[in-house]
Amino acid sequence: MNKDVLAFVDEQLDELKEKNLYNTIRVLESSQGAWVTIDGRSKLNLCSNNYLGLAADEDLVAAACEATRKYGVGPGAVRTIAGTMSIHGELERVLAEFKGREASIALQSGFSANLAVIPLLVGRDDLIYSDEFNHASIIDGCRLSRAKIRVFGHLDMDHLEELLKEDIEHPGRKLIISDGVFSMDGDLGNMPAIADLAEKYGCISMVDDAHGEGVLGSHGRGIVDHYELGERIDVEVGTLSKAMGCVGGFVAGDARLIEYIKQRGRPFLFSSSLTPAEAAANLTAVRKLWESDELVSRLWDNAKYFQGKLSEMGFDTGRTETPITPVIIGDAGVSAEFSRRLFEKDIFAQSIGFPTVPQGKARIRVMISAAHSREDLDFALETFGIVGRDLEII
Ligand SMILES: Cc1ncc(COP(=O)(O)O)c(C=O)c1O
Repeated sequence: MNKDVLAFVDEQLDELKEKNLYNTIRVLESSQGAWVTIDGRSKLNLCSNNYLGLAADEDLVAAACEATRKYGVGPGAVRTIAGTMSIHGELERVLAEFKGREASIALQSGFSANLAVIPLLVGRDDLIYSDEFNHASIIDGCRLSRAKIRVFGHLDMDHLEELLKEDIEHPGRKLIISDGVFSMDGDLGNMPAIADLAEKYGCISMVDDAHGEGVLGSHGRGIVDHYELGERIDVEVGTLSKAMGCVGGFVAGDARLIEYIKQRGRPFLFSSSLTPAEAAANLTAVRKLWESDELVSRLWDNAKYFQGKLSEMGFDTGRTETPITPVIIGDAGVSAEFSRRLFEKDIFAQSIGFPTVPQGKARIRVMISAAHSREDLDFALETFGIVGRDLEII
């Protein structure tokens, strides 16, 4: 029999293309920075999560090179078998101190961090309360746990409390979980209300602050610091792949939980750790933030300037409270055309449509960075104005 058992893949890919959901991935010929090289041309980069411009920072690169010379390029195996390099331990110690938590554990990515911790917090007989816009890695972590998932309306604390009241007699553990910053709109999880409700109803509280690390709070310590919640949020997940400029994820919180992840967290036990170069670069990034909040301040200055000017021009930037700047266009086709015209004018800014955002809410998502100069932002504003008027958005 000569059946093409993978023929369904062609159908799936064709369907994505028909629905305009097929991702065409741009190839960069440079490092991530305010400007990137694509097809041999310099383009203003409004796409990356390199909030603080650390992705190609000289100190991080030097630390990565030095660690590579000292420890080699790979960790050898999972840490429980091949041993843990001192650079990983140093990263975790400094990160925990920076975050003001008892302990932390570094994982390969923010995605892995969610898969590691959620199934250890709750299991088959337990309940999870999850914001409807939570990130895919939270959703997958929740599914892996086999707990029953109760989805509450986005930021709808009344709805969350209604669900908690309905489940008041439930004997199992309960976990409330939210993004710190919602990546498509740039709005904040209501962590103070979640802390209150978790305490009132005896739940574990958890935040995934991927877009808040290095952005919110004093020196970029994240959303828990921003709201001065101390240890009232039990579990903090973060990523090292965005503001910290490198790659990786972590869980910070109670030392017992961190120890439990080392004993039973599946991505920790069954997948090799960060490379020494990544651990060293991340460590350098955390130390840099600790020493100075200059980059964080510059990021916010840039974001406020850019968002203020866009609003003055008549663009709709939604409900953002962070440097994530959605420029809401509405129609997916117009939004894609907007992005294409920007690209022609040397601006790299992606259009995001359904199903990542609701139907009719397609947008250009602009990611502001401390690496952008005022001239960069003015160039972007002028170009957004031209394209916006041409397409009759403003
Ligand atoms: C809320 C949230 N969690 C986790 C991740 C994944 O982080 P990483 O790229 O480190 O896996 C992201 C990235 O988009 C995110 O926004």
